[in-house]
Amino acid sequence: MTDKKFYITTPIYYPSDYLHIGHCYCTIAADTMARYKKIMGYDVYFLTGTDEHGEKIQRKAEEAKTTPKEYVDNIVDATKKLWKRLHIDYSHYIRTTDDYHERRVQNIFKQLYDKGYIYKGSYKGLYCVSDEAFFTESQVVKKDDGKCYCPDCEKELEYKEEECYYLKLSEFGDWLINYYKEHPEFLEPKERQNEMLKNFLLPGLEDLAVTRKGLNWGIPCPIDNEHSIYVWIDALSNYITALGYSEEDELYKKYWPCDVHFVGKEIVRFHAIIWPIMLKMLDIPLPKKVFGHGWVLFDDGKKMSKSRGNVVDPNTLIDKYGVDALRYFLMREINFGVDGFYSQELFLKRINSDLANDYGNLWHRISSMLGRYFNGVLPEEVESVYSDRERELKKAVLTLDANVESALDSFKFQEALFNIWEVIKMVNKYVEESAPWNLAKDETKKDHLANVMYISCQAYYI
Ligand code: ME8
Ligand code: MG
Repeated sequence: MTDKKFYITTPIYYPSDYLHIGHCYCTIAADTMARYKKIMGYDVYFLTGTDEHGEKIQRKAEEAKTTPKEYVDNIVDATKKLWKRLHIDYSHYIRTTDDYHERRVQNIFKQLYDKGYIYKGSYKGLYCVSDEAFFTESQVVKKDDGKCYCPDCEKELEYKEEECYYLKLSEFGDWLINYYKEHPEFLEPKERQNEMLKNFLLPGLEDLAVTRKGLNWGIPCPIDNEHSIYVWIDALSNYITALGYSEEDELYKKYWPCDVHFVGKEIVRFHAIIWPIMLKMLDIPLPKKVFGHGWVLFDDGKKMSKSRGNVVDPNTLIDKYGVDALRYFLMREINFGVDGFYSQELFLKRINSDLANDYGNLWHRISSMLGRYFNGVLPEEVESVYSDRERELKKAVLTLDANVESALDSFKFQEALFNIWEVIKMVNKYVEESAPWNLAKDETKKDHLANVMYISCQAYYI
């Protein structure tokens, strides 16, 4: 039974603001995968949650004239409601402010320190508060105004000069390069590996500052009470603290190593560099896969983001069009792994043509004909009068599950839905061209009519 387990995670989102459809995108993808694996007989653990510490949240709370805890409680409440509305069936929702998580992160930090991987130093350089990330001179975007900007979110970087503790990432650069080589499946899509190699690994990894001094809204550093633990060390650990590491074994033994971490491409570097090195230092097996998906962009090409303020509220879309419309749109419209677009126009076009026309009308047609010609009772098929075309259609329907499975096994949600809709279109065309309304007028064509109803209803059901 052990190999029939499936552990999948989403990033834990910053509750710096209400979530938007970009966050829904990753969570819906993970939920889709979790449901699929459950259907296939896997014992699934699906983790999501919120990343609640750090300078960004602290500032947000100050702006709102409230405490960080009150600030995040409110957003977490809304997030859980949103996931409920979207039928997100997670196994556990982790908050980095949960006691058990804080305690376990302190254990992890202490272990890294005791093993000699953490040392004291000082940091001088550029920091993006919005992404909670350090950048080197060569990574930043310099503009004409002489200021430095974040290469990810384009916000102005802040110069920081402070005492901190470092994690010896630099000692593991070669090991990681080799690990990618030996485990090409570790980081997907493939292009992400090249980005990691080119931007970070081949130029040489630098040690990572893993504490912040004088930042109150963070987990206290267990070896120095003037410091708090850097929010990414806190955040990445969630994937194991949720399972009980390093205090309880049961869930951890059952589900770790993780089968796949779904993350957006902008945080691949944390998951494919810092995280595996941390685990290696702790002698913990690495996750089987990190999958870096693309962004939901507006049709002007801009990423939808809290810090840009150009977000679409999922609740508004759900109120107006329903949960399925939103779930379907996000999985069908965008190829998981590369960027894709959202606009009101694309959204309406997609749900009208696929859901209302292809799928909805098909049922409307066949159910009303079934009522009219067979009093609502599905007739038996009559194989002796099957045409080649009908045999082909039947085969397409019966082999669909294998197609869908192979697409989903490689996280190709778009392809899975495309294949399903190809069959829906075939059935529509078949009904149209068989003209059951003519067959119904001819008593000698009754068996043909029965087949049209039988095949289309069964196809629809499947
Ligand atoms: O990065 N398109 O949190 P975050 C697609 N707390 N996906 C999007 C998206 C968009 N426009 N906007 C957000 C953090 N996402 C950290 C993570 S994990 C240990 C810590 C999704 O609130 C996408 O999955 O900025 C992205 O990686 C994630 O939300 C970032 O959420
Ligand atoms: Mg972000």
